[in-house]
Amino acid sequence: MATQQSGSGAELTTKQRFQQFVVPNYGRFDLTLCRGSGCDVWDDQGRRYLDMGAGIAVCALGHAHPALSLALREQADKLIHVSNLYYHDLQGRFAEQLVQRIAPGKCFFCNSGAEANETLIKLARKVGHDSGRFEIISFENSFHGRTLAGISATGQPKVKAGFEPLLPGFVHVPFNDLEGVEAALSPSTIAVLVEGIQGEGGINVATPEFLLGLRRFCDENDLLLLFDGVQCGHFRTGRFQSYQRLLEGVEEGQRFQPDAIAMAKSLGGGFPMGAVWIEEKHSAVLGPGSHGSTFGGTPLASAMGLAVIEEVARKSLEANARTVGDRLKASLLALKEKYPDVITAVRGIGLMIGIVFREGFSTRLDGSRPLSLQLVVSLAEEGMLTIPAGADVVRFLPPLNLSATQADEAVARLEQTIRKLVV
Ligand SMILES: Cc1ncc(COP(=O)(O)O)c(C=O)c1O
Repeated sequence: MATQQSGSGAELTTKQRFQQFVVPNYGRFDLTLCRGSGCDVWDDQGRRYLDMGAGIAVCALGHAHPALSLALREQADKLIHVSNLYYHDLQGRFAEQLVQRIAPGKCFFCNSGAEANETLIKLARKVGHDSGRFEIISFENSFHGRTLAGISATGQPKVKAGFEPLLPGFVHVPFNDLEGVEAALSPSTIAVLVEGIQGEGGINVATPEFLLGLRRFCDENDLLLLFDGVQCGHFRTGRFQSYQRLLEGVEEGQRFQPDAIAMAKSLGGGFPMGAVWIEEKHSAVLGPGSHGSTFGGTPLASAMGLAVIEEVARKSLEANARTVGDRLKASLLALKEKYPDVITAVRGIGLMIGIVFREGFSTRLDGSRPLSLQLVVSLAEEGMLTIPAGADVVRFLPPLNLSATQADEAVARLEQTIRKLVV
């Protein structure tokens, strides 16, 4: 087969190949990554970066983790895929692990966060079908995925633009605003869909009062409380699900439980995987023929999911996310005190942290692109990968095994970047 060449006859670079053959739906940073190890990645120039994004909260154990490589190889040698026409041991075992960490119920497996949320939405539609209820209340600045139902549920106009007409049946109200939720109730309402911590929306944390109020509101009005734990779940906050951490020390919070939870991202440690947990009462609503996914919960994906969970337990990474996350946040808050003209807020919990920057703090940054994007570029130049959110937030979503030393390195690199930008 002929090698593709540029106009000048030279072989195409990676970037040129993308420009020629890959749909330009992502705004990519000018970086080509080649390999990783733990919380570090290297680019094609051999330059090392501390990876504080972990593939947008995906690589729960960092890169090239030996336990994941082993699980992948061993399972690939046995059975990569069987269809969901049959049983296989690993899917059931993985479901058991998820149920044990949430509450009695059952799991459905798919491949992504969007698919997991799609399942929540279909569950709600099916539950409400006979009573003619279909409307879902979701929140401004939320993000629920890029499928048509996902963008309809999402509370950010920019993801919807150009794809109208959207799926009907979604109302959006301000986050952490119970009165807004109550005002949005209609005879057609069937569910509320909420993230414990809004990730793409800029790390907005639900208050305990809000979560408990939502539960009460749903109970009083016979609605489902649907939880999008795609980004904030899977031990990232220092507990398996974010609400478990957010409601710690709140008495009523110990009984709090959503009716269904969407999961993905960290679930397979980088292997594509999504899941939905549904509480016992509604766990048979999606009966035979009502929903499905060819690749959902394959032996290989389930083996990866189990390997992540086992490693998290073996290395106490749930506790690590809490202690290293607390340390990281404390250092960032100290940095905010030191640079009040640069950092206006530090939000989040565990290893899900957002740093909010003041618009116009540096004359070295121009207004041509959002501040968050320009900062992520500057931080990469300083040897650290981070994730932008909205106009002015930079996110830290590192692997769950980030060490205290690496957390300190992240803060040092951030400070170094700030110093260069404020002069
Ligand atoms: C909260 C939340 N839900 C859903 C999604 C969509 O997940 P995916 O990209 O795997 O479809 C994301 C992705 O960022 C997310 O953060």
